[in-house]
Amino acid sequence: MSSGQPASPTATIKPTDLRGILKYVPRFQGQIFVIAADGAVVADENFANILLDIAVLKSLGIKVVMVHGIGQQIRDLSRLRNLPISDDSGEGPTDPATLDLAIRASSRVSHQILEGLTQAGLKCAITNAVRAVPMGILKGTDLQFTGRVDRIDKEFLQQLIQNGVVPILQPIGFDRDGRTLRLNSDLLARELAESLGATKIVFLTQAAGLEIDGEIRRDIPVEVLAALLEKDASAFAGRIRSKAREAVAAILAGVPRVHLVDGGIHDGLINEIFSNVGVGTLIYGNDYQQIRRATRRDVRAIYNLLRNAVKREELVHRTQQAIEKNIDQFFVYEIDENLIAAVSLAFYPDKPQLAELGSLYVLPFYHGRGLGKKMVAFACREAHQRGATQVVALSTQSFAFFTGVCGFEEAGKEILPEARLKAYEESARNSRILVRKAG
Ligand SMILES: CC(C)(COP(=O)(O)OP(=O)(O)OC[C@H]1O[C@@H](n2cnc3c(N)ncnc32)[C@H](O)[C@@H]1OP(=O)(O)O)[C@@H](O)C(=O)NCCC(=O)NCCS
Repeated sequence: MSSGQPASPTATIKPTDLRGILKYVPRFQGQIFVIAADGAVVADENFANILLDIAVLKSLGIKVVMVHGIGQQIRDLSRLRNLPISDDSGEGPTDPATLDLAIRASSRVSHQILEGLTQAGLKCAITNAVRAVPMGILKGTDLQFTGRVDRIDKEFLQQLIQNGVVPILQPIGFDRDGRTLRLNSDLLARELAESLGATKIVFLTQAAGLEIDGEIRRDIPVEVLAALLEKDASAFAGRIRSKAREAVAAILAGVPRVHLVDGGIHDGLINEIFSNVGVGTLIYGNDYQQIRRATRRDVRAIYNLLRNAVKREELVHRTQQAIEKNIDQFFVYEIDENLIAAVSLAFYPDKPQLAELGSLYVLPFYHGRGLGKKMVAFACREAHQRGATQVVALSTQSFAFFTGVCGFEEAGKEILPEARLKAYEESARNSRILVRKAG
């Protein structure tokens, strides 16, 4: 992880650092990392080392999806064949000749990755999991065979990943009639990460990281980067600019971290992921930016979200009217305008120092990514800001989550204010009463 201090680009992991690496293993195990390599990185002699690093990640239980670019290869082919190209990035117009070169370049680069991963002892597969639609005409320019991602066949990719296969995705998609379209690989990496719920995108490129005011930043909060792009996107070199833009979009859509790493550095990938001082740039989100106070418009969505848990008796039943009446108690976690998680926070006039956390729910697809913890931490912070000193939670099935993961302890029912105690006894749910410090 990057920490803000400059690092030596030649930093390597010593055997004594193993303990440091091992602490990341339980945290990363089972997570999906999207690794996106520029065409120039695949062409670099260090690429064989990167593939070995990927084998290490796999051996630690991290699930890897590979995306590659073809910029350098398409330029090389154009020179070699003396065929002018209309664009090399998948962002501008792709004419038929450029599309033809893009297909050839993609096949060559994918094959190189396939070969390298095979040599590293990994199972992998080139897929057709991306459906695309033409970009169409933008600002009067027909982008011809340049496409954008329409849909990702998530189930197909998940099956591969579950079976230990590394999917390799080319910067190529197919429209609904099976016609080929050229895609920008940075955009594809972001779409994949969002769709698969990846916890990281690592962009491997030919730059030491994000350069701002002549200096490489080792880490940068997403809102700072978004503001810089808004102010003057041309301050970033073209290839980096598209990564910076996709990084911002990915983080705002829920991908926690995006790294930019120089693909030419030996052990760069491993060092960036497993050391306190990264070698590239880490772009990270504000932990709570996707949590917001619920409004009346969310009532139905909250009701539907919580219904699943109510069925399994994990949460107490609440009618839509009850949710609406107390809507200002609810906070929701939103990705792309979909509610993914909820939590509520209630206060009692007869015991203002105590806040009650309730209705905690995370959609099962998003379990195990720290969202539950984040919602609880947010609610505890909010309780503190509103003057409470303690937070209480009542739980029938998830008490071990509160005690083992969120720092709560079991308490006696006398901690509840009188009116709440009465309701507790009447409900006969016999929930465990858990308490922790607010803040
Ligand atoms: C409980 C719940 C909110 C956890 O959400 P989550 O986003 O998966 O949790 P996180 O990713 O933040 O934390 C995962 C950790 O919690 C642990 N955990 C999750 N549910 C647990 C449970 N019911 N009991 C014990 N531990 C649990 C996981 O094992 C994991 O531990 P680790 O970090 O040591 O690997 C979610 O499972 C849920 O919505 N459950 C149904 C509703 C419910 O029971 N709500 C609480 C009643 S108020």
